[in-house]
Amino acid sequence: MPDVQALDAYLDGLGGKNPTLRAACRKAIGTIRDKALPAIELKLNGLVPETVAELQKIYADNPEARKSRLFETTARELEPADYLDFALEHDGDAVRGRTIFSDLSGVACIKCHRVAGEGGDVGPDLTMAGTQFGRTELAESILYPSKAIREGYQRVEVETRNEETFEGLVKAESNDWLTLRDANGRDRRISKADVKERRNSQVSLMPEGLEAGMTQQDFAALVAYLVSLKGRP
Ligand code: HEC
Repeated sequence: MPDVQALDAYLDGLGGKNPTLRAACRKAIGTIRDKALPAIELKLNGLVPETVAELQKIYADNPEARKSRLFETTARELEPADYLDFALEHDGDAVRGRTIFSDLSGVACIKCHRVAGEGGDVGPDLTMAGTQFGRTELAESILYPSKAIREGYQRVEVETRNEETFEGLVKAESNDWLTLRDANGRDRRISKADVKERRNSQVSLMPEGLEAGMTQQDFAALVAYLVSLKGRP
């Protein structure tokens, strides 16, 4: 239950690195936005540009807020293309990239991807990523996950006869059932007799907007790490 008293915590999370936390804070502030506006105006000078940009999105259709100081600051948010350009122009520190890849409190690529036997099993194994793809492709797979969805990793949405919906990757299938793996790596076996509708999604199971929690330097470091993956160390 969002509360104005927790505003500082929401503002912290909103400008932070963890995409799940950012989404939760965005939602919380969205619910209390009218009540929170005066307090936000007072705190404005202490906020990082990322937070201000997020707030401007939350209040974009709020006439009261549009007249307030919140919209006087022009915090231009970086676009995916800015990250791409930066990563193509800067080498990046692969050692730092490895830390970012594995940081469970940040973008946590390792939750879904395995490198040299370590990590999750939702997305493709990236142990050889640096031999399979070039720098541009690797950077683009982070920035635009749905642009080229890897074969065998297409997201499927299933609606059952008792109105439950599931989504994930088809990990196994027979005439009678299919097993879906969700973004958290959990498998669920669904009987085909229960399936009312099944759709192939054009959207990747890999989340969009992961770069928003990173500086451009961090992003270039992450790309450098992926480029360096050329088999078992
Ligand atoms: C929720 C799980 C999830 C997270 C988190 C995730 N990915 Fe992915 N990733 C996937 C899935 C699923 C695919 C395959 C579908 C596709 O191509 O979009 C994929 C594809 C990729 C590919 C293309 C690989 C190929 O073989 O085509 C790269 C590179 C990649 N991810 C890197 C990353 C990096 C770097 C991060 C962290 C910033 C990350 N991923 C975070 C699930 C995830």
